Amino acid sequence: MGTTAPVLLLLYTAAAAAAQIFRIPLDANSTFSWILDYPAGIVNVEVHTAAGKDHWVAVGFSDYGALEGADLCVLWRDWKGHTHLQDTWTDADGRLVVDPQQDCQGFKYVQRDDVIKFTFTRRFDTCDPQDYVIEEGTTHVVWARGRGPLFRLEGLNVSGAPHIGMQRAQLLKNTSPPPSHPSDTWRHDILNSEVRVPGDDTTYWCHLHRLPSALRAKHHVVQYEAVIQPGNEALVHHLEVFHCEAPHTQMMPEYQGPCFSHKRPEVTKVCKRVLAAWAMGALPFSYPEEAGLPVGGPDFNPYVMLEIHYNNPERRTDWVDSSGVRMYLTPTLRRFDGGVLELGLEYTDKMAIPPQQPVFALSGYCITECTAVAVPPEGIMIFGSQLHTHLTGIRVFTRHIRDGHELPELNRDNHYSTHFQEIRSLKQQVRILPGDALITTCWYKTTDHDNITLGGFAISDEMCVNYVHYYPKIDLEVCKSSISSESLQTYFRFLHEWEAQHTKSDQAISENYKAVHWTPMRAHILQQLYHEAPLSMQCNQSTGERFPGYWENMPVTPVLFPLLAHTRDCTTHP
Ligand SMILES: *[C@@H]1O[C@H](CO)[C@@H](O)[C@H](O)[C@H]1NC(C)=O
Ligand SMILES: *[C@@H]1O[C@H](CO)[C@@H](O)[C@H](O)[C@H]1NC(C)=O
Ligand SMILES: *[C@@H]1O[C@H](CO)[C@@H](O)[C@H](O)[C@H]1NC(C)=O
Ligand SMILES: *[C@@H]1O[C@H](CO)[C@@H](O)[C@H](O)[C@H]1NC(C)=O
Repeated sequence: MGTTAPVLLLLYTAAAAAAQIFRIPLDANSTFSWILDYPAGIVNVEVHTAAGKDHWVAVGFSDYGALEGADLCVLWRDWKGHTHLQDTWTDADGRLVVDPQQDCQGFKYVQRDDVIKFTFTRRFDTCDPQDYVIEEGTTHVVWARGRGPLFRLEGLNVSGAPHIGMQRAQLLKNTSPPPSHPSDTWRHDILNSEVRVPGDDTTYWCHLHRLPSALRAKHHVVQYEAVIQPGNEALVHHLEVFHCEAPHTQMMPEYQGPCFSHKRPEVTKVCKRVLAAWAMGALPFSYPEEAGLPVGGPDFNPYVMLEIHYNNPERRTDWVDSSGVRMYLTPTLRRFDGGVLELGLEYTDKMAIPPQQPVFALSGYCITECTAVAVPPEGIMIFGSQLHTHLTGIRVFTRHIRDGHELPELNRDNHYSTHFQEIRSLKQQVRILPGDALITTCWYKTTDHDNITLGGFAISDEMCVNYVHYYPKIDLEVCKSSISSESLQTYFRFLHEWEAQHTKSDQAISENYKAVHWTPMRAHILQQLYHEAPLSMQCNQSTGERFPGYWENMPVTPVLFPLLAHTRDCTTHP
């Protein structure tokens, strides 16, 4: 098959040869490549797929990857043999409607035997209310392929097509060039070794790995990237490398196997501090030239764990994989150690999401009082961000407040998916000064849940976290909140006394939440309570202890002057 050949026949002639080309697989035989033109606000797309002369191919975008309510560019042949690309959208049943405003432009194609390659351009924001707006964060690229002949596109059921799929990507990538590496930089690969991937839809494979003895001396990681075994691009969905937080002398079993297997040794649970995270389509992650991620040194436990998520929808049993991560390390330490700070909600069942909610928001606060004592006068620079929720999270963003004024947001993903967690380098580094506040908000959707979803560690529990990567490393490791315990007890007492719920003061918080019969009204009141109640703060040092002071019943940092809503530029073009 020539479909995955890296040659871009069409885009290359169309766009500047110097531009960066990004690519994700759509399935084993199809790719989606793109070039960004930020000044013009345009993405140039090239699709390669296996399709004969009588096939139609739809490619486009939707909020969370469904083919219903999608915005699609559809290539098809009419009965006279002409090939067209039309801008369409699908209704709630997955039927095509041809858009009166056509925004799939610059169409070109080449058909050779059973392979078609075509390109088109698309504005990030077409200003057409029927079109998807390409935003920062995650974009769900959806596709479908079927056989003609077709007389017209209108009414075609794309959800029912024989070949359909979805892939997530960060389309609006950071295109600024990474800093150069010190000359003594060496590479170290952390790879799986010929894993026979189980014939399951989803596998999380864990592999413990001992770092080389050269890391008895402290190094800086200046870059890391995924090393995907050629041919397995569609299989390896995302991966993370965790450091084992144990005394430096502690040995770890070199386990290789499914992460959730009962055979995985209990001691490997300490392998949970994220060093690197990659998801399909992500670029190499580079540290800014001032900083590196410290690894190694006399007190550093030499074990790390590679965790790979394999995505095998065809449930093939013949996949063998040796993918992993390549780290670029230097003993020539950069000026600053990079650190990771956890923002958002404390991992606790004090926060919860009622069932049957189309949208329910929880916010975690890093308040003025905490940064005031923890951040040095010159501040810290945040250059990367990894947003994190469990299964019901659909949107995550972090706002930045200084003296009551809201500054530009630190990060936002309006189409967040728990299955696509990459560390993203910010297009602009953000300086945080003492006294600044950071508010991380997560939206959850629980329409297919009948029970309350509690905060906590289990995958069925929820989290709301932004792991921010910054320099210089400071002693603040956690700046997270939850509702103050007193407010929550008052609320449970109110439910008991006024709403006849079986909540009790001598009962565990989780039992109290479970004892409530959740109605839309009660969910609404809980949302109000979370919005207004004072906080318990975890303003914690790297020792795991709080900064000195009293951190209960802290006020929410007020946002007196919110940012103006982002205005769309929809006047100059139709
Ligand atoms: C990819 O192409 C090969 C050869 O044409 C075919 O056997 C296989 O079914 C295709 N796979 C998919 C997922 O379309
Ligand atoms: C589209 O096709 C699928 C699969 O054949 C079917 O389940 C669905 O009902 C169809 N939708 C409509 C609107 O006909
Ligand atoms: C929901 O709660 C009920 C009552 O506590 C329990 O029996 C049931 O197993 C729960 N359902 C799920 C999906 O957890
Ligand atoms: C923060 O510090 C408190 C008090 O020492 C501790 O109970 C809590 O577990 C810490 N939280 C984290 C996330 O380290």
